[in-house]
Amino acid sequence: MSAYPIKNNLLRTVRIRQIIKENRTVKTFYFRDHLCSKARPGQFAMVWLPRFDEVPMSISSTDNSGLASMTVAKVGDATKRLHEKKKGDIIGIRGPFGRSFELVKGNVLLVGGGTGISPLIFLGEELAKHTSSMTILIGAKTEEDLLFLSRVERLRLDVIPSLEAAVSTEDGSYGYAGLVTELVKMKLEGEKFDMIYACGKENMLLNISLIARKHRTKLQACLERFMRCAIGLCGSCTIGKYRVCTDGPVFTEKQLEEIGDEFGLLKRDLDGSQVKL
Ligand SMILES: Cc1cc2nc3c(=O)[nH]c(=O)nc-3n(C[C@H](O)[C@H](O)[C@H](O)COP(=O)(O)OP(=O)(O)OC[C@H]3O[C@@H](n4cnc5c(N)ncnc54)[C@H](O)[C@@H]3O)c2cc1C
Ligand code: FES
Repeated sequence: MSAYPIKNNLLRTVRIRQIIKENRTVKTFYFRDHLCSKARPGQFAMVWLPRFDEVPMSISSTDNSGLASMTVAKVGDATKRLHEKKKGDIIGIRGPFGRSFELVKGNVLLVGGGTGISPLIFLGEELAKHTSSMTILIGAKTEEDLLFLSRVERLRLDVIPSLEAAVSTEDGSYGYAGLVTELVKMKLEGEKFDMIYACGKENMLLNISLIARKHRTKLQACLERFMRCAIGLCGSCTIGKYRVCTDGPVFTEKQLEEIGDEFGLLKRDLDGSQVKL
């Protein structure tokens, strides 16, 4: 059962206040919604496109004036339709839903792959209020797919001068040539972290969980599963004994071990059947 106040699940219609084109396939949409503006990093909203579809999106920023944003990669029909929206258009919103990242003090490592950096940069900005020792690793396929480098730079200039950041691209067009997991491996070989926070493709998360286990380092990872109700009722997002919408999307390394038969290996299709990731 869901632990949310019922009001989070009530559909609101909101007007898109601003749209930022982040790169060739990703846009950030700002909207005014009191509940989403109180979201914690890792939580998500269900975005309703009237007469079309409803899809889950992480909250990528909030502010005190009631604004919130989500950062959306164009991957299929619903996200294409969302990308066609203009400033002033109306969308439906439910949420925020899900368990957020737990904030710790100490030396923290944030690892974001692709649009996975979206909840993590929001997390980094919140963590910066509690810790002064942070490393951010960002991975993307190519330089053109990189996201939020300017937000990382602002965090370094305005809040944590000692912030370390490194970037990897699979084609070597920017930063380290290779996978971001290789940067994680190198980092953990030379430094002790109190927590790794990660979000991205599940094979990346699986690799990070194995590296974290080897170095006995704690991990919180944000998972994605197909979602319909977002309040723990329909079972679409089941992984092992958990429902990603209410028990996650953020899971600890202990929980990931419990769902080791499925984590990084299997997901549920539209009809609920298990398919390989
Ligand atoms: C908790 C959570 C947070 C997310 N946050 C973001 C984010 O911040 N930015 C972002 O760009 N994407 C995010 N996603 C993924 C996003 O929901 C999907 O990319 C989107 O639903 C695809 O819809 P589509 O119709 O455009 O593509 P489709 O053609 O339907 O599918 C493209 C891919 O998206 C997956 N997908 C489709 N529908 C869903 C669904 N309802 N739930 C989960 N996956 C689905 C499919 O399995 C497929 O791999 C998040 C997903 C979850 C579960
Ligand atoms: S989306 Fe329905 S139980 Fe999670």
